[in-house]
Amino acid sequence: MLKTNNFPPDTPLKNGGILSNHLTIESGVQLRTSSFYYDVIFYKSDVVRVHQYVPDQSDTDPYAVIENPMEIQISIVDAEEIIALESDDVKVQINKSPIHFSFYDKDGKLINADDAGLGMECQGTQKTVYKLLQESEKFIGLGEKTGGLNRRGKGFQNWNTDAFAYGLDDDPIYASIPFYIGIHNQGTYGIFLDNTYKSYFNFGASNNRFSSFSVDAGDIDYYFFSGSVENIIRSYTWLTGRMPLPPLWSLGYQQCRYSYYPDKEVMNVAQKFRQKNIFIDVMVLDIHYMDQYKIFSWDERNFPDPRGMIKALEDIGFEVVVICDPGIKIEEGYHVYESGVSEDVFLKYPDGSCYEGKVWPGWCHFPDFTKESARNWWTKMLKSYTDLGLKGFWNDMNEIATWGNMLPENIQFSFEGKPATTRKSRNIYGFQMARSSFESAKENLKGKRPFILTRAAFAGIQRYSALWTGDNVATSDHMLLGVRLVNSLGLSGFAYTGNDIGGFCGDCDSRLFARWIQIGAFTPFFRSHSMINSKDSEPWSFGEEVEEISANYINLRYKLMPYTYSIFLYSTETGLPVARSLAIDYSHDENIYKGDYENQYLYGKSILVAPIGSHDRYLKLYLPKGRWYDFFTDKSFEGNQEIMKEYQLEELPLFVKSSAIIPVYPEVNRNTKEKGELLELHIYNGEEANTFEYYEDDGMTYDHENGVYHRRIITFDPSSKALKIGEAYGSYESSISKLKVLFHGFKANELDKIDGIKTESYVFVKPISDFDPYKDTTQGKFIDEVQTAATEYKRETMMFNW
Ligand code: GLC
Repeated sequence: MLKTNNFPPDTPLKNGGILSNHLTIESGVQLRTSSFYYDVIFYKSDVVRVHQYVPDQSDTDPYAVIENPMEIQISIVDAEEIIALESDDVKVQINKSPIHFSFYDKDGKLINADDAGLGMECQGTQKTVYKLLQESEKFIGLGEKTGGLNRRGKGFQNWNTDAFAYGLDDDPIYASIPFYIGIHNQGTYGIFLDNTYKSYFNFGASNNRFSSFSVDAGDIDYYFFSGSVENIIRSYTWLTGRMPLPPLWSLGYQQCRYSYYPDKEVMNVAQKFRQKNIFIDVMVLDIHYMDQYKIFSWDERNFPDPRGMIKALEDIGFEVVVICDPGIKIEEGYHVYESGVSEDVFLKYPDGSCYEGKVWPGWCHFPDFTKESARNWWTKMLKSYTDLGLKGFWNDMNEIATWGNMLPENIQFSFEGKPATTRKSRNIYGFQMARSSFESAKENLKGKRPFILTRAAFAGIQRYSALWTGDNVATSDHMLLGVRLVNSLGLSGFAYTGNDIGGFCGDCDSRLFARWIQIGAFTPFFRSHSMINSKDSEPWSFGEEVEEISANYINLRYKLMPYTYSIFLYSTETGLPVARSLAIDYSHDENIYKGDYENQYLYGKSILVAPIGSHDRYLKLYLPKGRWYDFFTDKSFEGNQEIMKEYQLEELPLFVKSSAIIPVYPEVNRNTKEKGELLELHIYNGEEANTFEYYEDDGMTYDHENGVYHRRIITFDPSSKALKIGEAYGSYESSISKLKVLFHGFKANELDKIDGIKTESYVFVKPISDFDPYKDTTQGKFIDEVQTAATEYKRETMMFNW
């Protein structure tokens, strides 16, 4: 028999009630039980919201979701024991007694179901949804979570935490993205739990019956997604938003440490990159640029002329990013503190006094970024930075981190005029700080794109900010964990992420740095950073060999920038990540979840990266189905097989997928602004037709929103043996004037047409199997050497006007 809420609050209230009646509402139904209402609403044909609440006490999150239900056709069937709602993609079956839900895909296969015996359960304010574990079910995503690719058998919680030197299995760490994807024999589905209170996910941990998700308080409010993994990510990012196109300079290499000072040291490091011809775009300033760590101030002794320093850096092709922490030092006479008090922007205790917490500057107040007036105040404050020419802002310590790591739970947040305490607001604070920084910088910069980086996060923050994975450790295992964190964030709608190359805590050794910077070149956000009092960690700090390796891979990143920027554009339009876990394209291939292979990923759709531990000389890697080319030698391999290979330190295991189209800037020099005039297109032979959209714009303004870009669809069609370079569209004048095409894996005369024109003179390529890219490696020459080798065959490449 159903128990009702007459029971004491900590006694389970099982199954959320028996359905007494229901109403048809727009795009769905409202179900009523003795305990709750449930709105079941189709947002799209493949996205269903299930919102359980107590009438007049609904407690939801206003920040993550930005879409409203679309108008779609659904059918509703009311039978004796069930109600069924059906769109073109999903059928939701609701059992009436006790209420519980099952989801079927368009072929009628059961893809997800509540555990009928446990259903939805409340204990006091805590609410849990229990889902039946499916045979062979795997769980991926959930954002920045440690552990393996497949989260089966593990439990996690979301409670944004300053996790200095976190362990390989520590949980929680900095960010909360309560969105995961389930994969099993019958199909795939996604679930996003839109609730900012502390939440818990159990993927069959300590039980063999259910997966579950719980919230400490607030409503059970979740969205169900159906379709392939790719489709689920597209729909999740449709619902919660996608990243805006970042400034191109932010995709270059960024050099950071805690901290470069004084200004001369910043200039020295920057100049050294130029002298050594290692390409770079950004110098990052950590907390020592400030006067006693006071935000919006400069240390007058060490940085007497910030404007002059920023200009001098600009003159040698650098942008500058500065750290911005939320703690505002309590100090009479400090204008930021005084204006914050007078404009009433700080977080308060219930008795109205401002909350004080200790962090770098000493005792601080903290702006309430869930309040519009505080966000407007931040815009004014940030002006002192944007007026200096700064466009990049690194938001740190925004969990909120304070010494003691125990943010009081009774702090009051405005929550857009619907006051809430820390319990509801902690997980959203970093998001609102990053949002405020983005909106403030965008407003102040008048047409230039800002770059925002955050540590704490919640679902939806991808609309405003990139993320780095906090204070990692200088070990090989941490490097590989970092890869999985980035891939998992990518599965969770967050495309622009990375980790501290070289490891933040501890001293990096030379092999580790070499391996890490190689992976970094294939990570969306590419920045080296290390802690105060740790060993020097610049590309030249580990001896000549590692310097050369670092230079080669940093410069390779720049050569591949047209590929990278085009993937970023694709990501802004689809939500699909830049670093694609193999679970996106090979979801049902059991091998990719194995410990040996779970770190592998695709950079864009065409380059497979197989990270290797820093002290490993041999790597067992897995090539999924299809054909693959060794990136450096062009040797081809059939997929669906494991490969064991020895790898010298200078070689990151990289493979290119057959039919790939990869644009390269062979003449790039210094930074992302200096691309040269030549574009190379590398075409890899294959059986499948492929298209690639080349994208270019000014890299820094919003003019692209008005069509000021250069886009071209490039198509490779093996059946008609044609490569077609599509017409350019958009009004941006490309900086490229010449195109050179390089063919990989073709035989002579195998490709007949380019752009529909019969070509006799051309073509074919390689194999360049006797070519050893490492023999005489000199800085920045990987791609050049491939090209040189290719041009030795003369007719292998073609030049024509772009
Ligand atoms: C935090 C950040 C780290 C930064 C340090 C000093 O630990 O995570 O990146 O260097 O604070 O600002």
